Amino acid sequence: MAATPPKTARLDTITIGTGYDPATASGAAKPPLYLSSTFVYPNAQFAKDTHANFFEGVEMPGGETPGYIYARLSHPNLDMVEARLAALDGGEDSAVFSSGMAAMTTLLQANLKPGDTVIYGRPLYGGVDWFLNSHFAQFGVQSFGYTDGADPDHVRSVAAQAMAAGTLGVILVETPANPTSVISDIGLAVRIAEEVGAKQGRRPLVVVDNTFLGPFLQSPLSQGADLCMTALTKYCGGHSDLLAGGVSGRKDLIAPLKTLRTMLGNHSDPHTCWLLLRSFETLHIRTERACANALTLATWLRDHPKIKSVTFFGFLEEGSRERSVYDRQCRGAGSTFSFKIKGGEAEAFRMLDRFRIVKLAVSLGGAESLICHPASTTHYQIDKARREAVGIDDSTLRLSIGLEHPDDLMDDFAQALEAI
Ligand SMILES: Cc1ncc(COP(=O)(O)O)c(C=O)c1O
Repeated sequence: MAATPPKTARLDTITIGTGYDPATASGAAKPPLYLSSTFVYPNAQFAKDTHANFFEGVEMPGGETPGYIYARLSHPNLDMVEARLAALDGGEDSAVFSSGMAAMTTLLQANLKPGDTVIYGRPLYGGVDWFLNSHFAQFGVQSFGYTDGADPDHVRSVAAQAMAAGTLGVILVETPANPTSVISDIGLAVRIAEEVGAKQGRRPLVVVDNTFLGPFLQSPLSQGADLCMTALTKYCGGHSDLLAGGVSGRKDLIAPLKTLRTMLGNHSDPHTCWLLLRSFETLHIRTERACANALTLATWLRDHPKIKSVTFFGFLEEGSRERSVYDRQCRGAGSTFSFKIKGGEAEAFRMLDRFRIVKLAVSLGGAESLICHPASTTHYQIDKARREAVGIDDSTLRLSIGLEHPDDLMDDFAQALEAI
């Protein structure tokens, strides 16, 4: 019995078997849930060798497999889910955390020190924006936002600004961006990282937040990114019943994240990992169905007289710069997008209060469709001028399309839009 499907296996196969070998658990077809905070060493020398392996990467004598130590360092369900996520992202390894924010803040802290700078595409998920601009800034790490991640001159000029203020350590690309769903060019960020590296003698890491599309629709590592971060809470978890985050990449970049995670204590617990393993098994078919539903809904909304505009990857204009980025880096348009109504906060709130099927909640990527008003919820803590500069105004709504029948969703929208 093999723990891992063959190298030639497609993602649809990888997502089902990878990381768990039934031979390790009495042949159980599905992974057991290992609810243990600590692990018994077979003898004292093995304990010492296992610690040397974990903390210093020293090979185990005779190529033996190291044991587990304590669940904050790692545990069997965490290992399984990390093997599966790494395989799906095309990384050598991955580290899984207690939330997407835990993953992102740990990777930023592990790779940046006072005097370093960050450039990032705007808009950015509100929590990460707050961490960079309201928190990390106090520790001597300055951040600079760019608003068009597909425009080489613009991104280069913001990189130059960041280099003038310190050493540019991280280029953070969230694509599509939360909540507006604008596209950024991962390949462009990689080219700029090379240029900056040649000038300052340290190549900044390119980090991509792949939350909105997930491993079946976008593979940032294959585009040259160094680290691929995913809020697993969303599509990968897929049922709005867990919080987790993952980072994939080269082994030498993942190891320090696991060390810092051990000290911060923000690893993913066994039950969440077990749920994730189960969720991964249906990710491809959930992604397919959600994308088909989203295309139907986005098309219907675009033609509705009370809708001002719809920002959806599927509508990127043929021949445009954004469209060529999309064709190069994405395998589908995803199912979270934004639209603007003809009206402001009052009209938006009236519509939101009328939905019967679509749920009024933050988050995305669950089986159920969710809608929210970013200006008053997910991006509440970002000041109005900064929000509006990137197109998040009182008429903006973010929609995550789920797995319901598309006709029911359209009926629900039709009756809710009557409130405007
Ligand atoms: C793009 C993006 N990145 C990161 C996060 C943070 O993930 P979590 O809520 O699991 O901490 C979110 C949450 O909505 C997100 O949308």
